[in-house]
Amino acid sequence: MSNRCTVRIDDGVKRDILARTDIGEVIGAVVSLRKRGNDLVGLCPFHGEKTPSFHVHPDRGFFKCFGCDAAGDVIRFVQLHDNLNFVDAMHVLAKRAGIQLENEDPATARVRSEKEAIYHANDIAARFFHRMLTAEAEGEKGRRYCAERGISAESIAQFKLGFAPERWDGLVAELQREGVDGALAATAGLVKQGQRGYYDFYRDRLMIPTHAVTGETIAFGGRLIGPGEPKYLNTTTTPVYTKGRFLFALGIARRSAQREGNIVIVEGYLDCIALHQAGITNAVASLGTAFGAEQARELRKATENVFICFDGDAAGQAAAAKSIDTLVHEGLAARIVQLPAGEDPDSYVRANGADAFRARLNDAIPWIQFKIDRRIGEIRAGFKSRAQIAREAEILVRTLPRAEWDHWRTYAAPQLGVDVEDLRKARLQITDGARLEYGEGQMIDVRRSDKIRPGSVASPSWEAACLAIFVSEPGLVAEYAGRIEPERFGEPSLRRIYARMREQADVLLQPADVFALFSDDGDVSAVLASIAGAERSRIIRFADSEARRAYLDRTIERFAADDRHRRFRELDAQMTALFESGQPVPQELRAEHSALHAARTKG
Ligand code: UTP
Ligand code: MN
Repeated sequence: MSNRCTVRIDDGVKRDILARTDIGEVIGAVVSLRKRGNDLVGLCPFHGEKTPSFHVHPDRGFFKCFGCDAAGDVIRFVQLHDNLNFVDAMHVLAKRAGIQLENEDPATARVRSEKEAIYHANDIAARFFHRMLTAEAEGEKGRRYCAERGISAESIAQFKLGFAPERWDGLVAELQREGVDGALAATAGLVKQGQRGYYDFYRDRLMIPTHAVTGETIAFGGRLIGPGEPKYLNTTTTPVYTKGRFLFALGIARRSAQREGNIVIVEGYLDCIALHQAGITNAVASLGTAFGAEQARELRKATENVFICFDGDAAGQAAAAKSIDTLVHEGLAARIVQLPAGEDPDSYVRANGADAFRARLNDAIPWIQFKIDRRIGEIRAGFKSRAQIAREAEILVRTLPRAEWDHWRTYAAPQLGVDVEDLRKARLQITDGARLEYGEGQMIDVRRSDKIRPGSVASPSWEAACLAIFVSEPGLVAEYAGRIEPERFGEPSLRRIYARMREQADVLLQPADVFALFSDDGDVSAVLASIAGAERSRIIRFADSEARRAYLDRTIERFAADDRHRRFRELDAQMTALFESGQPVPQELRAEHSALHAARTKG
């Protein structure tokens, strides 16, 4: 077979598509973006991060992440984001822009049309189940079950719930009437092939459809009505669905998650539905599987703050502990909501109401505390030496951003019967930057989870930390003024504060002097107060002058590394352009390029 692509998408078509597509709109639909100057900025969907380094330039038509170097035009974005090849990405954008493309190659067309056909079959099935539950006599059993469980008519409509009748040929007949091919319905997981033809896969079950965020019906879960096994039957793997990649109700919860700035993850379909029904509309369900990286990335497009609210039994708690690793690894801030033993979100919210549930969210503990508490239990239960205990606890603490270490050492030490100093010293036995083992035997890359590194240009929090340092020890401003330029500060309000302090460095001797300097500026005073507050509450805290200097020094080192990195990228682009146009690359460029390359791989 010819491997030449029969599609001809010439430059003219590509230009047309680019001209008619607003890159900000396309990316904004799937990544939450904020305006900053002419740019749009948000959390990069292609790597885990807690602070936004993903930039979209709508007027120039490209995006770039300063954290992972993903970059390109809108076509490239769609390719990366939806895992499509160039031609498919063009099709998506062409369709969106109302441009007709011709000559698709037959193999691609077949895959696309199979997926479309499955969505179609799933929609017919969903409508059939829903009609059974809401309108047909046969659905009485399903209606009774919903009533018993307190599932409202609104929830049934919103989640398009349905009922699969206790028959072998209910859906089969419906699909036939609608002209859906039996083999295709089997591929979709709706029917099974038996000795005498196809039969219904789901029987006598409450049917819960799962939708992609783009609206297609991709899978079903069927809850057995009454006792029996298995309790749930689910779509396994089909061309449009892979278990563990999607989150139930994310399409519905996304907007309110963006609004609230957080999302609640529960295990079960019915937990999720009960929360929505109670007005907690930023809930999604992981469907009882281990949390996958792709799910975490999907979540991050809506918000970086997640509440994990699993069942209050041992299995639920263990599942929560496992999910944490994935979430944290992908740069999400996770908190654990604890429910009384024996309760799940469904039973809890029904018995106690939405306000009580929200109070539980309020009391949620940071994931690290949850891990530390679990580990403390294990460490205590084992026969371990003080040194071992200290080492294990310290390894756990060091999976966090540096600024938080002391706080958690102080938390863990007394419970383990060791001194804070023991923990601090235990670090000598730990190789810095290594992949450390912790918690449930999961590996986590310290460099990666420790994203908030001092001085990383991608992270605004170093700016707050620097200002906190300068407020608590204003004498350091003069000392560092020459090495930290105000332009390094990305956040304009913080830059202004620092610039002013730097100008007045000579008269700043103690914290009160700093506040006096800005006493006429209410906005700045509020910023300073919040920084001071963060320091008091130990979100940012430095033990002494030495620790402050060490932080500032590391920050300055990072500036240099960032500068080298930027220059390297620049050179790289320059050289690539020369190569591509067939021009010679001057020796100076090559030399600088390889020197920077060496510095990069070394440091
Ligand atoms: P649960 O057993 O906690 O079920 O499983 P639930 O959602 O609370 O349902 P009810 O209240 O008993 O009706 C949590 C999730 O695990 C998956 C389902 O997605 C379920 O919602 N699960 C559970 C299965 O896929 N198969 C099973 O047999 C059981
Ligand atoms: Mn339940």
